[in-house]
Amino acid sequence: MKIAVIGKGGREQALVETLAASPCKPEIYTFPGSDAILQTATPIQADGLGSLIEQMKALGIDLCVAGEESYLVKGEGLANCCHAAGIPCWGPTKQSAQLEASKEFAKDFLVRHNIPTGKATAVADYDAALAAIGGQYPTVLKFDGLAAGKGVAVCADAAAAEDFLREVFLEKRFGEGRLLVEEFLTGPEISIFGAICDDKYLILCPARDYKRLQDGDEGPNTGGMGAVASRQLADAALLKTIEDTIVAPTVAGLQQDGLPYRGFLYFGLMLTPQGPKVIEYNCRFGDPECEAVMPLLRGDLAGFCLNGAKGVFTPELISFDDGWSVCCILASAGYPASSHSGDLIRGLDACGARVFHCGTKKTDAGWVTNGGRVLAIVAQAPTLDAARTLAHAEAAKVDFDGSQRRSDIAYKNM
Ligand code: AMP
Ligand code: GLY
Repeated sequence: MKIAVIGKGGREQALVETLAASPCKPEIYTFPGSDAILQTATPIQADGLGSLIEQMKALGIDLCVAGEESYLVKGEGLANCCHAAGIPCWGPTKQSAQLEASKEFAKDFLVRHNIPTGKATAVADYDAALAAIGGQYPTVLKFDGLAAGKGVAVCADAAAAEDFLREVFLEKRFGEGRLLVEEFLTGPEISIFGAICDDKYLILCPARDYKRLQDGDEGPNTGGMGAVASRQLADAALLKTIEDTIVAPTVAGLQQDGLPYRGFLYFGLMLTPQGPKVIEYNCRFGDPECEAVMPLLRGDLAGFCLNGAKGVFTPELISFDDGWSVCCILASAGYPASSHSGDLIRGLDACGARVFHCGTKKTDAGWVTNGGRVLAIVAQAPTLDAARTLAHAEAAKVDFDGSQRRSDIAYKNM
């Protein structure tokens, strides 16, 4: 079997390695890939969606697995193009991926299908936004489009809200677009992953990510500074509530609305005092949650995704370990405002944990930084305590100039 994995980060490396370990020993191809992914996968030479599809056809790719969201909504959409070319794709069509690409689309979907979520108003300009906030702080402002994780501002007061509104509507930092003014919710967050195959679904191992840069959930929002995954993160009663009130109605809603969905669907939830509420959908696996979850997966991910992409639901092919997995991210100097490339990474050989490369490059001198998030260092153990102790100890063996790492991943919010 030949599988093409689309993307280039730590999430995609974790997917590539887990797919490659499937019993049928598939041949893995990748686009655009990274030097680290190319240790396991063969690159597809393409310069856009059209040529990518042509190359996949020429190579006889049996399954395309979408890692990164951007390809799902670019141009005609990765899945749409795959379908037109007769290539099974694990990842939703462009229409369905609006659940992630447009916050307003997602909010309308949630409200239409009675799925618990924060109240929100969509606005088109600065004054309408201030009117919708109505002097109620904290408030949450969400730009209605893909903004690389930077389009959401939780504003404690009017000054913070006005700063963000100025960026959105006057400086047009994210381009043209509307904005959601959303009710501020409180409670622990949890990332739930569904593998959706038309009207059927499997809930995978839950995870929690750490979005702020610094210990104690301080500092700016990032793409994620670490994650913890375990089936024990949510007990049976909570999982049942999440399934009954959120996952099942979402899958039914997609069917009712004529939005075909085959692929991973990520539910970002807030466990509020009134019960779990959706804060966002993502039409792909989380990053860095994927790096934490994949090492717990047992069975045949390649077979599961291939069957699912063809509309055949085979949940019996995969399962998850009972233990814990902890992922610590090492980020480069300046992240998240900027990033620093070319810093030599030390200690990789001494590190006994699994290492996924988020943003690195291989040079004659060794691996160097090449992006904001650089490495995901992941350890598993039967208990939370053993997994987090091991992950932090192994992560401490690796460094580079200016490296940033949180020391409270899997300790805080547990
Ligand atoms: P999002 O990109 O929608 O996941 O938002 C990024 C982060 O903002 C989330 O992980 C939450 O920590 C926070 N956030 C989003 N929506 C809300 C909300 N309604 N209330 C409080 N915090 C929120
Ligand atoms: N971990 C957050 C995300 O993947 O969007």
